[in-house]
Amino acid sequence: MSPAEQQQVTVFAPATVANVACGYDVLGFAINEPGDFVVVRHSDKPGLRITAITGDDGKLPTDPSKNTAGVSALDLLHHLGMTDRGIEMEIHKRMPFGSGLGSSAASAVAGAYAVNKLIGEPLSKKQLLPFAMQGEASADGAWHADNVGPCLLGGIIFIRDNEELDVAELPVPDNLWAAVVHPDIEILTRVAREILAKDIPLRNATQQIGNLGGLLCGLIQSDYAMIGRSIHDVIAEPRRQKLIPDFYKAKRAAMAAGALGFSISGAGPSVFALCEGEENAHQVGEAIAKVFSAIPLNNQMHISPINRQGVRVVDKVPVIA
Ligand code: HSE
Repeated sequence: MSPAEQQQVTVFAPATVANVACGYDVLGFAINEPGDFVVVRHSDKPGLRITAITGDDGKLPTDPSKNTAGVSALDLLHHLGMTDRGIEMEIHKRMPFGSGLGSSAASAVAGAYAVNKLIGEPLSKKQLLPFAMQGEASADGAWHADNVGPCLLGGIIFIRDNEELDVAELPVPDNLWAAVVHPDIEILTRVAREILAKDIPLRNATQQIGNLGGLLCGLIQSDYAMIGRSIHDVIAEPRRQKLIPDFYKAKRAAMAAGALGFSISGAGPSVFALCEGEENAHQVGEAIAKVFSAIPLNNQMHISPINRQGVRVVDKVPVIA
């Protein structure tokens, strides 16, 4: 072990909202909670081993080559020529699968980031992006950085090109908050991608580009009204809303409560609203949650400013009450 290396590292990788309405596959932001934890430590036995997984109801494989956190860590170790390093990994899932909150991205980011820290941080956070992407792609079979990017780097991330992983961190207006509500159903990202139209009318493309540009301008200029006018998705939302019970009711409730805009978080079923200020975010979150509860559908609400830090080292994995 070199002096820069750690004995053991625990990391937390936050949930993310991908697409942000008008930025299908090219825009995403991180929130403070929930998120996944990964613990890594050195071992005398060569190779990466996953020694424990909690919070997954037994669904996740412990074979590192089949596990998102394992794949991203292995890919990093392979790149560094260190696959024979003895490393033990524990994964503590603290967010639901198929939730639209970037669950697999969080594990993938946590795996690569934790191992990088353990071995003395040879790569920067941004350099870890392709390795975390491999982990995420192993889970949903697609290659989009709109969850992995913000989970790793924090803030609001724009991806000019997913193949090249050409990403930019956007400015975050000080008082921008998110209300995210997860109704207790599961939507497979693969299914939510398959129901999208393969071709889109020129009119829709023009509208979507206008709104995406408008949202970026609104963020850069801290122009909340412009942000609000831009949060519209004419490509994915009209098709995916069918998968989410009372989606339009929830949208009307959020807008009536003063949200700047409302749409589906990633592939759903979670929905999100962007709001000006914490108080309004609580009001909007309650209004959305009330719609799902009335169905009745259990749901969890997360009120958060934009998380600017992304994945980070923490002292320990908190015990679930
Ligand atoms: N941009 C992706 C999608 C996010 O909407 O399919 C999935 O997590």
